[in-house]
Amino acid sequence: MEKQEHEALLKIARMAVEGAYSVYSRFSVGAAVLLENGEVVRGANQENMAYPSGLCAERVALFYACSTYPGVAVTGVAVAARDASGAWASITPCGACRQVMAEVIRRYGRDFDVILADGEGYKVVRASDLLPFPFGM
Ligand code: THU
Repeated sequence: MEKQEHEALLKIARMAVEGAYSVYSRFSVGAAVLLENGEVVRGANQENMAYPSGLCAERVALFYACSTYPGVAVTGVAVAARDASGAWASITPCGACRQVMAEVIRRYGRDFDVILADGEGYKVVRASDLLPFPFGM
């Protein structure tokens, strides 16, 4: 992906934050998944009174993308978040989301860029660098 594409995908992730249901943590996360066919799928964290029943934004978006377009590879994921005060936060995916990303790499046989909001800015990492020694691989 090029710089312009990173920034465009991150902009969509920042918009996706509005879909968060984060009444317990007050930490609202949005994710945008770019697919090889050009489609962009969004997700936001969804919490639940029974805490483990909720799901991170990254997995909401990735699972939706992979179930809607099962044969289409992921080419990028952007993640953004707002803290309880509403300010843009820095975000890095949790371990479970990293394991899911590792499986997405394996499933489609290609690595992808992960664009992580860092306050008002961002950094870019390769998905494969996020989780060394993933389970089962
Ligand atoms: N969360 C995400 O959606 N993505 C991350 O990368 C880290 C954490 C969510 C889970 C929970 O709803 C809230 O943020 C606070 O942990």
